[in-house]
Amino acid sequence: MEDATFYENVYKNAEGYYWGVNPSHMCLKVLSLLPPDKRLKIIDIGCGEGKDAVFFARCGYDVSAFDISSSGVDKTKRLADKAQVHVNVFKADINDYRLDSDYDIIYQIGVFHYIKPELRDEIMDNYKSHVSDNGLAAFFSFVEKPFIGLPPEKEEYFFPKK
Ligand SMILES: C[S@@+](CC[C@H](N)C(=O)[O-])C[C@H]1O[C@@H](n2cnc3c(N)ncnc32)[C@H](O)[C@@H]1O
Repeated sequence: MEDATFYENVYKNAEGYYWGVNPSHMCLKVLSLLPPDKRLKIIDIGCGEGKDAVFFARCGYDVSAFDISSSGVDKTKRLADKAQVHVNVFKADINDYRLDSDYDIIYQIGVFHYIKPELRDEIMDNYKSHVSDNGLAAFFSFVEKPFIGLPPEKEEYFFPKK
């Protein structure tokens, strides 16, 4: 499997955590909508260096997370160790990996543009079929608007070819 070179290099060469260690705003939204009153399963797709995955684990969720970047996975593990929580983090390519069990929350920030256009429907169907009843899909994605900037890396799958 090839690493996503842009973020692999960014994470490897960053002095600390490129994205920082504080959770995204969307974590707080998830927390307010589905608080971990019981142990809820969450998967963070394209978890980067793990700030959100580790935050969820610290809150008491049962967290799985994956990213294509080895450095991102390693940094997620280190962040979890530091916080003394467990995150089931592993390396995977969103184009190859399919969910095979249900999650209460499927969470994704800034990764769906890496899905190959021809796999989009299949992967979304896979996610839809693995959200638990009364569960939540929390997705934050780039959209094609003239007033919104493009992601920094020159990814060929940003938007459907016209
Ligand atoms: C904009 S960053 C977002 C990281 C994280 N979600 C966050 O909010 O901190 C995009 C992430 O997608 C990962 N990525 C790129 N291509 C991927 C792929 N094919 N499968 C899984 N992750 C991928 C990158 O390594 C990077 O960590």
